Amino acid sequence: MASKKKSVLFICLGNICRSPIAEAVFRHQVKEAGLEDKWYIDSAAIGTWHVGGRADSRAIKCLKTKGIETDHIVRQITKEDYTKFDIIFGMDDENIGDLKEMAPKNSTAQLKLLGEYDPEHIRIIEDPYYPGNYEDFVTVLEQCIRCCKAFLNSEL
Ligand SMILES: *[C@@H]1O[C@H](CO)[C@@H](O)[C@H](O)[C@H]1NC(C)=O
Repeated sequence: MASKKKSVLFICLGNICRSPIAEAVFRHQVKEAGLEDKWYIDSAAIGTWHVGGRADSRAIKCLKTKGIETDHIVRQITKEDYTKFDIIFGMDDENIGDLKEMAPKNSTAQLKLLGEYDPEHIRIIEDPYYPGNYEDFVTVLEQCIRCCKAFLNSEL
């Protein structure tokens, strides 16, 4: 019997920019570390705006520059996620506030800011959707690479 997988859910407002980038980056790092069978990884939205759609084309484009792909389909967080996942990462304080508000009574997941793991101590991963400069997506990607790496190392 395989031991229980660790599980992590990345959250942002719409699940088309920050959280699918974080999910794809972490999945890639876990794969490179040969730990695919040890982790269950997903991402989801606070809101319903983009449910059923794909990540923002700018997110897909910047991931590609690192050789990372995503085929994530946008979904909204569910009550079950709060017991299914060990850790739920938000990207900013607003996400954490929303996550707390939406949490069911039986929630067991730890709610954390992904930026808490940033070795460069940038706590907040800002939403790059507006004004939507490609550079902002690159910044998000770099934050996610740093934070996910540090998180993975902390779990080894
Ligand atoms: C926790 O509560 C929610 C409803 O608030 C329910 O949908 C879910 O199945 C419960 N999970 C467990 C593991 O009991």
